[in-house]
Amino acid sequence: MSDPILELSGITMQFGPVTALDDVQFRLDRGETLALLGDNGAGKSTLIKIVSGYYRPTAGRIVLNGRPVTFHDPQDARRAGIETIYQDLALFDNLDVAANIFAGQERVAPGWRRLLGFADRRSMARDAEAAVAGMAVTIPDTRRAVEDFSGGQRQCVAIARAVMWGREILIMDEPTAALGVRETQRVLDLIRSLKARGMSVILIMHNIEHVMQVATRAVVMRSGRNRGEVAISGPDDAEAHAAIVRMLM
Ligand SMILES: Nc1ncnc2c1ncn2[C@@H]1O[C@H](COP(=O)(O)OP(=O)(O)O)[C@@H](O)[C@H]1O
Ligand SMILES: [Mg+2]
Repeated sequence: MSDPILELSGITMQFGPVTALDDVQFRLDRGETLALLGDNGAGKSTLIKIVSGYYRPTAGRIVLNGRPVTFHDPQDARRAGIETIYQDLALFDNLDVAANIFAGQERVAPGWRRLLGFADRRSMARDAEAAVAGMAVTIPDTRRAVEDFSGGQRQCVAIARAVMWGREILIMDEPTAALGVRETQRVLDLIRSLKARGMSVILIMHNIEHVMQVATRAVVMRSGRNRGEVAISGPDDAEAHAAIVRMLM
């Protein structure tokens, strides 16, 4: 039984003479981890940018939690519970973990310090620490600026931010693309743990082996259109693997 948290129908996106998306249908079920695949130029990024409020589609409908929505900008999509982690991750390199997690939404200090405009650093640091604790990727010191962090640790901070703010839908663009072998496994563990938290996740991923390890469904696009979709029963689902390869050819 499908239980859609997000449904897009009849999505068309025109950039001048270029049709990036042509009557695309897309569904994300509550709590599922879905992989979005397709060759370069297939329309994956454009579709994701529509979901995260960067683009308004030329035509089509977006239904979130059963209600039609229109996103005017990325803040709109965020407020509606959709967090997107782009490849460059959009962290503030010179800031520590807590500052990154609370960026733009700092807590004010209690009592008289509020009058002086102080932020409540202690409580933000404590909650940031708790947010990254227990994640598959370990962060040795949350007071260090994130510029020193590895790719996997940066993913972890970005994910912690999404979890902290209660986002229901997390979109990750190539989360394992720039990582080494061991760290890739950690990030895949991290993605699996999101499913356990009940998050609904969209992954743009090229590596089919990684897709097989974490996703329960793959949606394949080609030339701005739906190519097909495959349910994945587990990492060893050879039939699903073959079907994905076929659709990508
Ligand atoms: N801002 C834009 N202006 C013009 N064409 C664009 C723009 N963004 C994407 N496109 C075109 O739309 C198509 C889909 O691109 P994209 O969504 O980036 O594909 P993918 O992420 O799957 O590689 C491509 O032909 C691309 O050149
Ligand atoms: Mg892209």
